[in-house]
Amino acid sequence: MPEATPTFYLTTPIYYVNDAPHIGHAYTTVAADVITRWHRQRQEPVWFLTGTDEHGQKVMRTAEANGTSPQEWADRLVETAWKPVLKTLDVRNDDFIRTTQERHETRVQAFIQDLYDKGEIYAGSYEGPYCVGCEEYKLPGDLVDGTGEYEGIKVCAIHGIPVEMLSEENYFFRMSAYTQRLLDFYEANPTFVQPPSARNEVISFVKQGLQDLSISRNTFDWGIPIPWDTSHVLYVWFDALLNYATAVGLDSDDPADKEQFARTWPPSVHLVGKDILRFHAVIWPAMLMAAGLPLPGQVFAHGWLLVGGEKMSKSKLTGIAPSSIIDTFGSDAFRFYFLRAIVFGQDGSFSWEDLHARYTAELANGFGNLASRVAAMIGKYFGGTLPDAGPLTPAEEHVAAVAARAAVDAEAAIDRLALNEAIAAIWTLVETTNGYLTEQEPWKVAKDPAEVDAAGASVPGGRLATILVTAAEALRALAVLLAPVIPKAAEALWESLGAEPVLGPLAAQPVADAGRFGQLPAGTVVTKGASLFPRIEEPAAS
Ligand code: ME8
Ligand code: MG
Repeated sequence: MPEATPTFYLTTPIYYVNDAPHIGHAYTTVAADVITRWHRQRQEPVWFLTGTDEHGQKVMRTAEANGTSPQEWADRLVETAWKPVLKTLDVRNDDFIRTTQERHETRVQAFIQDLYDKGEIYAGSYEGPYCVGCEEYKLPGDLVDGTGEYEGIKVCAIHGIPVEMLSEENYFFRMSAYTQRLLDFYEANPTFVQPPSARNEVISFVKQGLQDLSISRNTFDWGIPIPWDTSHVLYVWFDALLNYATAVGLDSDDPADKEQFARTWPPSVHLVGKDILRFHAVIWPAMLMAAGLPLPGQVFAHGWLLVGGEKMSKSKLTGIAPSSIIDTFGSDAFRFYFLRAIVFGQDGSFSWEDLHARYTAELANGFGNLASRVAAMIGKYFGGTLPDAGPLTPAEEHVAAVAARAAVDAEAAIDRLALNEAIAAIWTLVETTNGYLTEQEPWKVAKDPAEVDAAGASVPGGRLATILVTAAEALRALAVLLAPVIPKAAEALWESLGAEPVLGPLAAQPVADAGRFGQLPAGTVVTKGASLFPRIEEPAAS
């Protein structure tokens, strides 16, 4: 029996519900959606998980400050903000896990009981500086000098807020025992941590030697009780990281869950921001090693969206709501812009001017206008029915070659998670096709007496027909290649090309075949739909 294609299983971080999502969270989720949609377009089995992280002091304190219980607070934020934003962003996740769900809590308890039984957890005590923003004990090297109101004191390098000295009796995970095993693992799996800058950071951190990790707290109770000592709750990060396994059925007795776990585990990619790289690239694999579970394929840490040179953040109140962009520009433009304009893996700054400029140049004038011009000309000269093409010249062969190359390059870029490069590769076809029409001037060719019959109608099999069929094929290829990035516009284009009745649904077009010309048969009915990316006035400077 041939082996089934393994499931491409990708996760986003599960986000804290201390506040509503901003475009930083949306950036990760959209990137995850583009990657998973791309794998679906390859016709691979895919599992895409996202969700929310609801325990710990940060959420508890926010709920208290708002005069409500943490569970009520979490329920409200999830239902009014975190789930709706997925729809706003046009994200197609397969599951949404909340760490307060029963499925998660019972499976987490089974997991840690197992580690305890294996001797991986012991009781001890700890004293050190703790950052509630990070939900993490900090090492001296993690702190920086405060500025402004925190002048003269040490603050967290990520959140810029003072740390709290904590001293507690805790349970500890023997993470120090995994120092060498982790280093060996990174060595044997050079792409486990990516991009290379993230890999280097992780390796030099682990090379200093790992300490055992405090994994319980007994000064508050908003967390999962430690099964053998319910006066403690589990450390929020130990709880949160396990979502990736509990959501797909880890430690469940249900046969359907067991089957899902067997089919899905291990994850192919954990997509995270660089702020939470160490948790995913150090603690998480050590936990899995201790449990004897297979390790994920990759942890990819992307950069930060910056505002005024600093990480956009909920705690600093510099967050921009995704809807404030999407209400004007639409979800497709949002998705396109952030993945196109920022090198995936590096930091990037958002500006309304840059968004508007790229929208206008690339989506409205570059791509949208190409689609409407071609449909309009097929309508005008051939009554909206694709004619037979005539003999191909080097100009047509060039467009076809660029399409084939674009598909191959985009595939390779996606496998490296170079999302901006994938879009750039696809854009070579937009530019080439626009250039081809400018050079070929089909509107002039249409007037050539050799191109019209006695009744004055354009004839099939001539130059004009060849040019328009070539342009239509380029649009067909673009619809498939851009479907993961701008799904709404790609569907509208597929519809306008009349492709579904002749080639089937857009979702069923294998990406590997996208760059092959000659797929739309003569007789295909092309209609000019609404503008894919209507022009938008420059937003008022903000
Ligand atoms: O850390 N730029 O949740 P969180 C880019 N619950 N990405 C950003 C960003 C920015 N300015 N701000 C946030 C947590 N993100 C934990 C995770 S996982 C087991 C537990 C994105 O709400 C980015 O993906 O603080 C970052 O890693 C994540 O949101 C942090 O979200
Ligand atoms: Mg954070």
